[in-house]
Amino acid sequence: MTVNELKTQYVPTFFTLAEFKEIIIYITNKSDLNFVMDNQLSKEESDLFLTLVNNFKSSKKPIAYLTGNKYFYKFDFFVNENVLIPRPETELIVDEILKYDINEKNIFDICCGSGCIGITVKNINSKFNLVLSDISEKALEVAKINLKKFNQKATVLQADFLDVFKKTNIIPDIIAINPPYIDISDQNISENVKKYEPNIALFAKNNGLEFYKILFNSLDDLFKLNKKLIIICEFGFQQKKEIKYLFSPLIVKYRIDFKKDYSNNWRVFTITSKENYE
Ligand SMILES: C[S@@+](CC[C@H](N)C(=O)[O-])C[C@H]1O[C@@H](n2cnc3c(N)ncnc32)[C@H](O)[C@@H]1O
Repeated sequence: MTVNELKTQYVPTFFTLAEFKEIIIYITNKSDLNFVMDNQLSKEESDLFLTLVNNFKSSKKPIAYLTGNKYFYKFDFFVNENVLIPRPETELIVDEILKYDINEKNIFDICCGSGCIGITVKNINSKFNLVLSDISEKALEVAKINLKKFNQKATVLQADFLDVFKKTNIIPDIIAINPPYIDISDQNISENVKKYEPNIALFAKNNGLEFYKILFNSLDDLFKLNKKLIIICEFGFQQKKEIKYLFSPLIVKYRIDFKKDYSNNWRVFTITSKENYE
């Protein structure tokens, strides 16, 4: 059977187009589907496809956990159930980091999970020092596997959020954070996400705002480490108003810029000291 024929058979009744693409990329090892649509699958590839179909049918597990792979940016990350499956909107953090001169800088990827943010930046320009941190030892194991997979180096630290700065003397130039930000009662989260993705990666107290509140309370201390610090942080697409309000007492000292993702949702804010600009 050709990939096109499989697509007609399985999309959209069984898989979404995105899921189907993920599977074909995985079994053919080709990242651009346009080149494989007319290809006949080998017996091995067809068998693998059917095994995944059966596993998916019986478990409804996210495809990325069945294949152990997820493309982020253009890199094929290893994932398992100890880490959040990297989301396309998080690629915006990578783009934001790449707007700066990062050569010789120290970049922290806090709440790193699979390491997808920091390691992706490394894969594009490796001339900086990367620190990966997470509270979950199991997530850090996955990040270490990805470092090895992409032949990159980083300092890997287990730490509770900003306590990472108590565990190292490395002075941050850029801090990238994709923290958990979903409120436990959020009805928009699919049962499958709740069931399979690590709850510690998804949910945060205080209406999902817990980590932003800690960041707010720690801002002066962080900027004491480096007054030219840049903080780049993701948030939920409906949280801009609350975050703007939360940080509003600090806008005399700090500049807070909000950015939209490629689906036109507010997704990321950056914090810099006004001294940096004036
Ligand atoms: C939304 S996931 C982001 C993972 C990865 N950076 C990404 O973008 O795919 C949040 C991560 O924060 C970690 N985390 C949860 N609570 C934490 C805490 N108190 N301190 C540090 N990391 C924490 C989770 O283990 C999870 O890996």
